[in-house]
Parts: sequence; structure tokens; C-alpha cells
Amino acid sequence: MAEIKKLTDLQNTEYGTKKIFEEAQDFLPLNGTDYVELYVGNAKQSAHFYKTAFGFQSEAYAGLETGLKDRVSYVLKQDKIRLVLTSPLTKGGEINKHIDLHGDGVKVVALWVDDATKAYEETVKRGAKSYMKPTKEEDEFGHVIRSGIYTYGETVHIFVERKNYSGAFLPGYRKWESHYNPAPVGLKFIDHMVGNVGWNKMKEWCDFYAKVMGFAQIVSFTDDDISTEYTALMSKVMSNGNGRIKFPINEPAEGKKKSQIEEYLDFYNGPGVQHIAVATNDIVATVSAMRERGVEFLYVPEEYYDDLLERVGEIDEDVEVLKKHGILIDRDEEGYLLQIFTKTIVDRPTMFFEVIQRKGARSFGVGNFKALFEAIEREQLNRGTL
Ligand code: FE2
Repeated sequence: MAEIKKLTDLQNTEYGTKKIFEEAQDFLPLNGTDYVELYVGNAKQSAHFYKTAFGFQSEAYAGLETGLKDRVSYVLKQDKIRLVLTSPLTKGGEINKHIDLHGDGVKVVALWVDDATKAYEETVKRGAKSYMKPTKEEDEFGHVIRSGIYTYGETVHIFVERKNYSGAFLPGYRKWESHYNPAPVGLKFIDHMVGNVGWNKMKEWCDFYAKVMGFAQIVSFTDDDISTEYTALMSKVMSNGNGRIKFPINEPAEGKKKSQIEEYLDFYNGPGVQHIAVATNDIVATVSAMRERGVEFLYVPEEYYDDLLERVGEIDEDVEVLKKHGILIDRDEEGYLLQIFTKTIVDRPTMFFEVIQRKGARSFGVGNFKALFEAIEREQLNRGTL
């Protein structure tokens, strides 16, 4: 409870936070992120990339060999993070359509619950659009109940109840044994996942998380907070009651040039997941390993580090090492955080990852927004999309 109190301290009152938190406990308790599923053009090769570059481990597999006819899925794991990569095996159908429209991208943000039927009923009752009615799936390892609702764009939340299951991932999947097992890079869990929505849609989707899922708004940034000379965006961070699920929602704002959010919306053809922030306990080691394995990060100019210690005070890390990697630092009342952003990891300028290490801070690096957005603008300039 003490943890929640602190979260609420940060909150403004737009959604009557306290009340919502109490309600959240009642109607949609979430244990954490269960998995994130991406629809991709070539799951076999994507899986190789996430193993090699990001240190994910082979976990489970479903495809022709397990009786599927139209799709294949690879499940990868690193500590508490589960990624599912799914590709179609035939023409037509929902997955091909998704890839045609959006490129490789996140389809499912699955949430781990104790009761998937109740999660479905409570959210649909409050206005969620149904994606999947509560469905029991079983095999020799027990059963799982899943249900799902739509969120922004074509993205969905699937509620996963797995307390009666001991298999590799879900019924229908089998353990994926691979002879190729690159070491993990220290990614621990998903810290937050950010959604980009269209012009003037931020409030609508924050309202959705507040009213339909019982989340509370913990932070709000206006375009005054998040703008550079050229581009701007607005953002609000929605969190569930226990703080394990945090979804910042971005919308573009008017600037002299095209906002990165607008660029995303153009290439993704609508709203979707912009970035997945993954936590590490040692950002320098994690980022060093990822760089060695070919992950590209946004470039941060050296001047960012000139007055760093004046801005953030004492830190445990060597500034020269942070500078070498382009790791950003920000401090709030509770501590500090270190963060870094990859370049977009798919061909369309849409999705990317953030690596974050929190040392007390619960915020989202507002002090770094300007440096970050200038770095993104440099990329946009290279792409001719600024
Ligand atoms: Fe982030």
C-alpha cells in the first residue's frame, strides 16, 4: 500500500485518482505483463534477431509441426519478459492484413490475471470492445483461460489466466529446444509500454484506461514540456493500481515541423505501440552487450554531458562511460534513472525499444525529453520525414 500512496502523490486529480485506485483493486487486478505478441513478416528470422541482438532465449513454438495450418509463433523469454513472434503461413487473413497495413508491430499486450473471465466481463461492461470471449484452452499440462479486448488502433489486450497451467507457454505450444542460445543481456521486465494515438485522441484513450480498466493518470506532459525548436508532442502516463502496468499515451502536437508521433502514425497507418521499455539492473553492461551484438542506439551529442552532474547531482556511474554509450540520466524527488533508446528496430520508422535502469526514480525522464527528441529529429532528417 505504501507504494501506491507514493504513486498517487505524483498524480494530478483529473480522474479522481484515489477513487479509481480503490476501484481498480476491485474490478481489474493485474499481476503484470504476460506476453507481448508481434505480427511480423518472417517470425523465424525475427526470432533469430531477438535472440542474437537482445539476448532472448528460445522458449516455445507452435506451427505446422504442432498442428497449426495458417500461422507460426515463436516464444522468446528473458527473465520476466515474454515476446511472441507470429507470422502467417498462408495468403489473406487477419495477420497478413495487419502486416500489410502496419509493418511488423505489436498486436497483443497480454496481461496476467487471476480471473480472465471476470477481467473480460468487467471491462466489456465498462465499454471495452470485445476481441476474444473467455476461452478455455487445454492440453496435458492443464488449462489456460484467455479473453481479450481492443485498445487503440488494432492493438488488443488479452487477459491470461494461467494458474492451472504448467506447460511451456500456452496449450498448443511445445518447448522450443534450440542449439543456438546466446547469453541474455540482463533485460529483466517490461517497465512501461507506450502507445501513439492520433491528433486530439490522447484524452479519449486515457479515459479508456481510466474508466474501462480502472487505471489512474500518474503524470501528464504538455507540448510545453515536450517540444524542441521544431517538433512537439503531448503525453500522459496511465498506471494500474499496483503500478506494475504503465502505459504512457502520446499524441502529436503542432510544431514547425512534423512530430515524430505523426511520422509514426503515417508509417503505421494509425495508432499503435511506439516503444517497449525494458528494465535492467546494470544499464552499462546491458547496453555494451547489445551494442556488441549489433543493436543501434540513438546518438546523444557530447554537450548533453557537459553540465550533467549539475543537473542530476551525484550518481554512482562514471559519466565518461555513460557518455560513451549515449545513456541519458534524469532525477526526480525519489532518486534517478538511466535510460537509452534504440533506433527503430523495424524498417518502417515505427517501433523502438528503451532500456531503463531505475535507481529510486519512478518518473519517465522528462529532463531528457528535449535531448531525446532532438536525437529523433536527426533520424527524421536522415529519412526526409521531418
Ligand atoms: Fe519510455
